[in-house]
Amino acid sequence: FQSARRGNDSVKKGPVIAIDGPGGVGKSSVSKRVAEALGFKYINTGAMYRAFGLAAKASYVDFKDDLNLQDYCRDIDINYSTDTGRITIDGVDYTDNIGSDRAGELASKVATQPSVRACLSACQRMMGEEGHVVMEGRDIGTVIFPDADVKIYLDAAHEVRAERRKDELEKNGIEPSRVSDILEARDKRDASRQAAPLKQADDAVHIDTSSLTLDEVVKKVVQIINERLNVGNTGR
Ligand code: DC
Repeated sequence: FQSARRGNDSVKKGPVIAIDGPGGVGKSSVSKRVAEALGFKYINTGAMYRAFGLAAKASYVDFKDDLNLQDYCRDIDINYSTDTGRITIDGVDYTDNIGSDRAGELASKVATQPSVRACLSACQRMMGEEGHVVMEGRDIGTVIFPDADVKIYLDAAHEVRAERRKDELEKNGIEPSRVSDILEARDKRDASRQAAPLKQADDAVHIDTSSLTLDEVVKKVVQIINERLNVGNTGR
């Protein structure tokens, strides 16, 4: 990704679907299923921040020192396989450790730093530029691909998201604790940071998923995407 880190502009060559939203809303489950339904690649940018946070912590990098992080970013080698979903940094595979609350917390903290965002954003643009991709995160429709073909913003009531996060942790064999408080603190940090804060793009479709099942959300999102992509194709 060294060369990609120089660029800030997106040059997409095929359809890009941006799915953003707060923690616990079900972005990963929905995005993965939507990508499967469309035959598109799936890219989980939160997983990249999580792996980065774990790797930087293991290397004793000071998260509060942006210059220190800048140096660290310059030297690391990030590898994200969209075929397997596995993420390695400097040859260490972090995939099996990114599901914990600790990884989420480290990700949210490190994601406030502009140098880290610049580094991972460039990787994400490079990974998505070929198109036929569903990319999920916090800033995909606003910063990474502001010209995405379809932008979806998934939302849900806090209690619903806390419940979904609890289920997800349990599914990963992790004992949930203080889920609601941790989620609230993380959402606050993600939405109030200066660099690329979590917010809905003006042209995103807002979906409140509070009372919808996963199947219903997937169906709705696929329908919106098909409608928009087909409209875009008419007359070409
Ligand atoms: O989606 P997630 O819970 O795996 O994301 C973990 C953290 O990473 C989240 O709290 C904020 C950060 N993040 C970000 O700042 N920008 C993204 N595009 C994706 C995640």
